[in-house]
Amino acid sequence: MTKLKKVVVIGGTGLIGSKAVELLQDAGHEAVAASSRNGINAYTREGLEAALAGADAVIDVSNMMSFDKDVITDFFETSSRNLTSAEQAAGVRHHVALSIVNADQLGANPYMAGKVAQEEAVATSGQAYSIVRATQFHEFIETLTGAYAADGAVKVPEIDFQPIAASDVAAALVEAALGEPKNGTIDLAGPERASFESFVRAYLAAKGDGRKVTADAAVDYFGAPVAKGSLVPGEECIKGRITIAEWLKA
Ligand SMILES: NC(=O)c1ccc[n+]([C@@H]2O[C@H](COP(=O)([O-])OP(=O)(O)OC[C@H]3O[C@@H](n4cnc5c(N)ncnc54)[C@H](OP(=O)(O)O)[C@@H]3O)[C@@H](O)[C@H]2O)c1
Repeated sequence: MTKLKKVVVIGGTGLIGSKAVELLQDAGHEAVAASSRNGINAYTREGLEAALAGADAVIDVSNMMSFDKDVITDFFETSSRNLTSAEQAAGVRHHVALSIVNADQLGANPYMAGKVAQEEAVATSGQAYSIVRATQFHEFIETLTGAYAADGAVKVPEIDFQPIAASDVAAALVEAALGEPKNGTIDLAGPERASFESFVRAYLAAKGDGRKVTADAAVDYFGAPVAKGSLVPGEECIKGRITIAEWLKA
């Protein structure tokens, strides 16, 4: 039988974090849903020492939405440094961070630059770690559709897309956290790869939204120039199970 463990989920009240907390608790582990609202703040260090006492692993799925490169980089870098140093002081075995597939090739996107800073802070911390790089979530397609909508139509980059359900991401993070540190990155993607516009079309059709969707090679990804494979992983990746059709139906 697996030994029950204490796992601290930083961002444990968010989309991915709340699902990770539930999965851990369902399996009998002790899961701490850490968030600044709960008095545990990775950026200021408030409450970290107490939360990490006796923990075996930390899953960091905290988030800040900003398109100011300096703000977002400071958030992810400072939080990751604070967490990994507090983990080392507390004797935590494993730090797991959630990043984004190909973030390092998309640095012209300010948010991606922040994720790269997070990855570097973790990898150079001296703490044992695994970085899980996921593709875009099914749950994020609504935001993407809104961002690319104009004049009653939606025009997206002409690229491949392989989105994944948040529950599959949470399950992969929990499995990673309970396992051995990779001291490297793991790519994680959804079960199906197709054009970006086909996923947006499926999403809009399910909502009964008749807006026209087109793809244009000149459209970028929030400031980053993109090509066909920019948002999808290579051959070696873990795949989620839930298709967009199943997710939309649910
Ligand atoms: N969207 C995508 O398609 C996608 C794809 C791949 C990877 N990701 C990554 O997935 C991660 C999680 O995203 P999500 O959508 O689950 O985020 P979310 O729903 O916005 O949740 C963010 C969580 O972070 C917590 N938080 C914010 N600042 C904090 C701080 N200083 N200390 C502690 N907790 C803090 C928030 O709680 P409080 O407000 O109470 O602090 C909340 O629990 C992000 O790192 C993102 O980069 C996203």
